[in-house]
Amino acid sequence: MSVFFVRGGISLKGNVSISGAKNAAVAIIPAALISNTPCTIENIPNIRDVDTLLDIISDMGARVQRLDEHTIVIDPTQLGCPVVPYEVTKKMRASYYILGALLGRFGKADVAMPGGCKIGARPIDQHIKGFRAIGVDIKMENGMIKARSEKLAGGLVYFDTVSVGATINVMLASVRAAGTTVLENAAKEPHVVDVANFLNTLGADILGAGTDIIRVKGVKSLTGRSYSIVPDQIEAGTFMLCAMATRGDVEISNVTPKHLYTITDKLKDVGAVITEFDDSIRVQMSGGISNTNIKTMPYPGFPTDMQPQMVSLLSLASGTSIVTEGIWESRFKYVDELARLGAKLRVNDRTVVIEGTNQFTAAPVKATDLRAGAALVIAALAAKGTTKIEHVHHIERGYEDIVGKLQKLGADIVRSDDSPLPGAAHDSGTGSFSSYSSVRECS
Ligand code: UD1
Repeated sequence: MSVFFVRGGISLKGNVSISGAKNAAVAIIPAALISNTPCTIENIPNIRDVDTLLDIISDMGARVQRLDEHTIVIDPTQLGCPVVPYEVTKKMRASYYILGALLGRFGKADVAMPGGCKIGARPIDQHIKGFRAIGVDIKMENGMIKARSEKLAGGLVYFDTVSVGATINVMLASVRAAGTTVLENAAKEPHVVDVANFLNTLGADILGAGTDIIRVKGVKSLTGRSYSIVPDQIEAGTFMLCAMATRGDVEISNVTPKHLYTITDKLKDVGAVITEFDDSIRVQMSGGISNTNIKTMPYPGFPTDMQPQMVSLLSLASGTSIVTEGIWESRFKYVDELARLGAKLRVNDRTVVIEGTNQFTAAPVKATDLRAGAALVIAALAAKGTTKIEHVHHIERGYEDIVGKLQKLGADIVRSDDSPLPGAAHDSGTGSFSSYSSVRECS
């Protein structure tokens, strides 16, 4: 397994360019399957989750061609309606979007209940509620979700809880339904808007994405086009914290500053000097970090996907901070690892109390999930000595070339290279997607 070695204590300086958003990419790739003709997707992040998903859709019968490091073509014309087993969906939680995409394309789907990051129970009852509201009959059998519809027809969905996944999934399923589907209490995250923009580029008729009511007027077909994915606000936020933890001066480019407002606002509160430009921001930090309190909430609230990184930063603040997790019920599993570097943390249910410390000191640690891994990288960059971080495959699921980007900012970080980096050439354009012939189609 690959590991990172990080010698801390160096102030980061320079410019880092942010990649396309992971959470948009993992929804837009399945969304491309609804189209009748090939789509070109630009600004695709070169990360393991994208590789996994491209493998999955190739095995399902889509042709995937990588034009360059950040551009792919997805040709869904050969796609049948494959049964998607647990061996496939357990690889990543976002494989639930395949259910919505197959429903949008064929009006039926057999997809195993997904696996994913272990940060909470992660039910999909709201996805199911939405599918039922547009005329889909859903049965659970032997761990499989069997979804059938005589005819998808627009309906009204009121989500009991704000769910990114359910909002996007029902949007995918309803995009070609007869009539209009109204999604109330919808999620407003930038990647929800990005998926709607992608589908609209293909000819869909979706209004209101980014507000809590989305209207999807069904269209007969979608036609493949080119589309560029939005920048990843969580990757940007993570680099902002790397700059702050090392008392650095970093310009973060290829970002949408307004997607970062909540993060920017909080970071100014705790001492960062932040300057915004059209598509970049500069983070400067010379003095100490102040304490604060945070509660994570759906967008535009403070993002849960920045919570572990923020706990890492606030561990270096003067005074006591309190961070409350408002989305996931067990997202503090990493605190023991952070404590090995010197953080003083007390967890009580969904709250962590952080006693600030002046200095982290290096220790061997392991990433327990994607964002927890990012929190350890931030701590290691600030720590005295050389920290070894194990299980970095979690980090590489969602951060493109994090080692290279940090090195460019002056960090002393290396990856011991005993497993390949994400982004291996992906090209099934020649028609050699062998597993498809053995895939069973849903009846
Ligand atoms: C997405 C993000 C993830 C982020 C999360 C919250 C992707 C691929 N992942 O996950 O990084 O942490 O949003 O911003 O985009 N819930 C239900 N029933 C459902 C669905 C969700 O009760 O049917 C609950 C969940 O348990 C959780 C909350 O709603 O407490 C939010 O979940 P949701 O927004 O659906 O998260 P994901 O889409 O899985």
